[in-house]
Amino acid sequence: MKIDGKPHRTIWPAEGGDAVEIIDQTKLPHSFEIARLETLADAAHAIKAMLVRGAPLIGATAAYGMWLAMRADASDAGLSNAYDRLYETRPTAVNLRWALDAARRKLGPLAPEARPDAAFKLAGEICDEDVGINRAIGEAGLSVIKEIQAKKKPGETINILTHCNAGWLATVDWGTATAPMYLAHDAGIPVHVWVDETRPRNQGASLTAWELGNHGVPHTVIVDNAGGHYMQHGMVDLVITGTDRTTRAGDVCNKIGTYLKALAAYDNGVPFYVGLPSPTIDWTIADGVRDIPIEERSAKEVTEMTGRLPSGEVATVAITPETSPAANPAFDVTPARLVTGLLTERGCAEASEEGLLKLFPEMRQA
Ligand code: MRU
Repeated sequence: MKIDGKPHRTIWPAEGGDAVEIIDQTKLPHSFEIARLETLADAAHAIKAMLVRGAPLIGATAAYGMWLAMRADASDAGLSNAYDRLYETRPTAVNLRWALDAARRKLGPLAPEARPDAAFKLAGEICDEDVGINRAIGEAGLSVIKEIQAKKKPGETINILTHCNAGWLATVDWGTATAPMYLAHDAGIPVHVWVDETRPRNQGASLTAWELGNHGVPHTVIVDNAGGHYMQHGMVDLVITGTDRTTRAGDVCNKIGTYLKALAAYDNGVPFYVGLPSPTIDWTIADGVRDIPIEERSAKEVTEMTGRLPSGEVATVAITPETSPAANPAFDVTPARLVTGLLTERGCAEASEEGLLKLFPEMRQA
């Protein structure tokens, strides 16, 4: 992604090498602000308070968090404390565990004095790998978009619906669900994206719309309940979402509301694809509904809304009766049977254990 015409990642080592910098996503789309992470506590706060969010970026931030922790205390106790502190920040995105396990595997056998440099190198590698993975997911998705284009009249627009933000901002670069959209747009294929607002935190309205607009991709923000209507009227050619954790059987856990979109897509014969980087596959579980921990977030995210007033001031207002309780599960699970295909860095997999193992045969149990 480019900001002011220059390539820009969502996380990077600060100049001088003494900190990590991120885009503070809680400030978007109203202002673009950079935040500096200098300590383990800063990294844990950035993940928990959602200055960074999205499964791959959570993993990358955790990896840099391990580096920040090792600079302060590279002892065995420091390593174990950093792992636990970061692990408890958010429960659903499996990339967090994946990155922390990778750090522990790498750093555990090393002498403490070697750990900070090794942690820094590993975090950089995880970021570079994420960029390559997303670019490859983009290619897999582009093939699907081209197949759909081939069935349309020349010049006809391809309408893609997406939910939440599985874009550049949710990864280190490109995005998972958005990479195919960016590649198609850059290749001159006329795409238009229906962006679900994604209540209650509005990642679609605030983040996906902002980054698609920044890249010049035509898009329209819609309320979460509009997708089914547009599908019934032939105005959605395909759905592409991201995922926070996909089981080995292909069940997809993603932002709350994804399941309803998948049901509507199934009922209307609209293909439903998921951008799935391999670090987001949880090979240890098969049944997503039973086994994936769903983050329960503050009721205030439901009872209040934040936005920009005409004066330019950003304000939070209450939208429910003061006495009404609210519940706020942040994710849901779409069963594999509703998923047309999983767009991975190795190509498009059928959403099933066999489908995933065909592309990742090294995960087949002996
Ligand atoms: O709660 P969030 O904003 O971290 O949730 C993010 C999502 O649900 C994304 O769609 C998912 O992480 C895929 S990111 C490429």
